[in-house]
Amino acid sequence: MYLFSTWGKKESSRLQMALRSLATRKTLTLGLNSRRLIQSRALQTFSLPDLPYDYGALEPAISGEIMQLHHQKHHQTYITNYNKALEQLHEAIQKGDSSTVVKLQSAIKFNGGGHINHSIFWQNLSPIREGGGEPPKGSLGWVIDTNFGSLEALIQKINAEGAALQGSGWVWLGLDKELKKLVIETTANQDPLVTKGPHLVPLLGIDVWEHAYYLQYKNVRPDYLKNIWKVINWKYASEVYEKESA
Ligand SMILES: [Fe+2]
Repeated sequence: MYLFSTWGKKESSRLQMALRSLATRKTLTLGLNSRRLIQSRALQTFSLPDLPYDYGALEPAISGEIMQLHHQKHHQTYITNYNKALEQLHEAIQKGDSSTVVKLQSAIKFNGGGHINHSIFWQNLSPIREGGGEPPKGSLGWVIDTNFGSLEALIQKINAEGAALQGSGWVWLGLDKELKKLVIETTANQDPLVTKGPHLVPLLGIDVWEHAYYLQYKNVRPDYLKNIWKVINWKYASEVYEKESA
């Protein structure tokens, strides 16, 4: 006030105009950045990650034919449909079409979940010559023994839950970061583990959809579950556990 009172009306008015102009420029800049952010989000698409091994490298536990179809066809289809749904979502938001925004949620959950789950699944597997099937070492091995009695007891429990899951879905070994303990969970369809609790982190997910085993094991899911442990990558699960439980 002192500043304005000692200035003439002209100076005071100029200062106020300058301040208004600065405020407007700030608003415009914020608006531009927001639009850029939305535009860059619209351009974000997901693509099929490479497998860290050859399709036939998990044989005889999982055939090369299954791996190729599972990766190139099934996982790719989830990604294609996820990208399509996200593009439609972006358009609907721009149009202010709330009904379509809500309608798209199930496609996003299903296809986005399919992409998330399969991306984890490929890393949960490893050829035997690269350590597949080797029991976990370090703190994860110790926690499994403490919580479940033994690795064999944990495997039996996961297999039982996976075999009992009706329809299609996943069986998980997860870390509950809040309760600081290991959990075994199942999810239906392509629901990621986080849908069972916001503090759950997947260490290991096993796909129990028929497309994961039917060509080799026909409809005998327990045989698939029994054999998959020969190529489970416990090193990966241990690394996630170390990172997330620190
Ligand atoms: Fe799958």
